[in-house]
Amino acid sequence: MKKILVLGASGLVGRALIDELVEGLDVYGTYTSNVTSLPHDKQFSLEVQHIDKMRELMDTVKPDVVISCLRGDYDHQLTFHEELAKSIKNQHTKVYYFSTTNVFDGDFSRPYTEADTPIAESEYGKFKMKCESMLQEMLGERAITIRIPMIWGKNSPRLNQIKESLKDEKVIEVFSNLVCNHHLDVLLAKQVRFMIENDVKGVFHLASIDRMMQSQFYEQILHQLGVEKSILEPRFFLDKEDVAYFQIESNREDIPRVLRYTNSDIISSLFQ
Ligand SMILES: NC(=O)c1ccc[n+]([C@@H]2O[C@H](COP(=O)([O-])OP(=O)(O)OC[C@H]3O[C@@H](n4cnc5c(N)ncnc54)[C@H](OP(=O)(O)O)[C@@H]3O)[C@@H](O)[C@H]2O)c1
Repeated sequence: MKKILVLGASGLVGRALIDELVEGLDVYGTYTSNVTSLPHDKQFSLEVQHIDKMRELMDTVKPDVVISCLRGDYDHQLTFHEELAKSIKNQHTKVYYFSTTNVFDGDFSRPYTEADTPIAESEYGKFKMKCESMLQEMLGERAITIRIPMIWGKNSPRLNQIKESLKDEKVIEVFSNLVCNHHLDVLLAKQVRFMIENDVKGVFHLASIDRMMQSQFYEQILHQLGVEKSILEPRFFLDKEDVAYFQIESNREDIPRVLRYTNSDIISSLFQ
């Protein structure tokens, strides 16, 4: 049975991954403050600055696949992933690295596919860009990059924030001219299972496949929550009227149609 180590298994993406992958795979995970649903002997507390502990863990578990869904200080994360790559340099282990739409946040004039070169402006985007290319340089085809947009889930900070705003009768600012895509934790996890089982390689953009303005997406979420009066306050992105894009698209054919999701699929699954 393939051994999978999920780094950051207690987070939004990590939790969905372990729930999806425990069926049929031997799953291990790390956390810092929130324990996971994995058995006691398959989860480990691990901070990104504790490199020796990471090396020990890699020696003990000897995973076939490492999935990184970590957060933490950027410099620490960069060193952590560099040392992780060194520790498996001469092994068969593959690393699936979660990156972000923000690697393109230096230019909002169009959507981006996997064939485009990242162009980040934010510190977050620049850090993710660096980490992606470092892993690809050190591990070659054994580094798989998964870029994702804003992630939703039944227990996600984004959905909880909307519920809080409704409770406190606070307005939510949204952009009426920003095309963005979204994803759902549990649907993303199904795509990752497919990727592991089919041994795909390279860079992947996993996100809703149709275009929707951010304000429309929020309107539909509120509709599902049964809210009649809109608490949305539409604004123009960067105070300009032109349509802007915070959107990743995929030009890859590897993921089958049945595992590609629209914004409506995401919203309906979120409220199922
Ligand atoms: N969520 C999104 O919308 C989104 C969008 C684009 C990209 N991403 C990327 O996808 C990955 C997963 O995101 P997520 O939303 O699932 O994150 P999350 O919910 O914040 O979870 C982060 C995970 O990392 C662990 N962690 C936090 N600080 C750490 C540290 N200093 N050392 C070691 N582990 C630490 C957390 O442990 P504890 O919970 O135990 O503290 C948790 O398991 C991240 O790399 C993120 O950049 C996320």
